[in-house]
Amino acid sequence: MTEDAAQHPDRFASAGDRSAALVEALPDDTFAQVCGRGELVLELRTTPGAALWRGSPWGSGWVGGGDATALGTLVASAVPHELTVPASLGLPAGYLYDWGWGWHAITTAPPQQPGEHLTEWLPDGDRELADLVERAFPDAETPPGDPRVAGWFGARADGRLVAAAASLTLGLAPSQQRGPVAGNPAGTVGPVGGAALLSSLTVDPAARRSGWARALTAWFVRERFARGAAVVGLGTYLSNEPARALYDRLGFVEVPYIGGTAA
Ligand SMILES: CC(C)(COP(=O)(O)OP(=O)(O)OC[C@H]1O[C@@H](n2cnc3c(N)ncnc32)[C@H](O)[C@@H]1OP(=O)(O)O)[C@@H](O)C(=O)NCCC(=O)NCCS
Repeated sequence: MTEDAAQHPDRFASAGDRSAALVEALPDDTFAQVCGRGELVLELRTTPGAALWRGSPWGSGWVGGGDATALGTLVASAVPHELTVPASLGLPAGYLYDWGWGWHAITTAPPQQPGEHLTEWLPDGDRELADLVERAFPDAETPPGDPRVAGWFGARADGRLVAAAASLTLGLAPSQQRGPVAGNPAGTVGPVGGAALLSSLTVDPAARRSGWARALTAWFVRERFARGAAVVGLGTYLSNEPARALYDRLGFVEVPYIGGTAA
């Protein structure tokens, strides 16, 4: 029994309906929670125990989650060309492995870190930001100017910007993103809560291993939870051992994802 927009035209009439349905379908899947609470879901199919959706923080591809057998049923009926799933499920038959990345999410605030009080939202067009990212993280997923970024935050030492990171837009206009997060327009901690995404965390090479990344990440998680987020997440390349160690130490849970193309 597959429920989708075609069979139930009124069930997923709006983006809000799709998002709420995904949040309900996979309560323990933090990637699904971010996609749903961030109102990023373009299409959705559900069946008891699994969901298959199109639309994630990084693009419009199809993502699956839940129980492997139930998900296999959904995939067999939808046959998405490209599919990403938790590595623990494995790609369904007929898909060839093409890519992998790490998903990291946290649902409770980490302990207070030294230097958090030095972190703040950066003004739009901060004069040092583009130079820092270009020098220190030329492969950043969302460099300054990327339209998905709602705002940058960072910290200065001796007047110089030494660390910065981006908050990604999740379903709201960028102008709203420094305040309330998606799903909770009042900006208070409510029963449902929104989601937030950290991106392009960059520390000046000369200032590394001094706790700046730890301070910025903890500040962002605390700030977003205070604004109503229920979950904060981010993605890493599996080869980025320093970043994976950093998030692990702060209490993020890592879920490796794999993706592939229908053969
Ligand atoms: C990853 C990065 C942000 C870490 O910044 P940082 O300020 O040096 O990190 P911190 O000093 O806060 O380190 C916190 C913890 O992260 C881990 N860590 C950081 N750098 C590490 C490294 N090179 N090797 C292993 N672990 C590392 C450690 O657990 C560290 O705690 P410890 O110093 O007590 O052992 C920085 O190396 C960087 O800008 N890299 C390039 C951009 C990048 O990869 N960004 C992450 C994108 S997801």
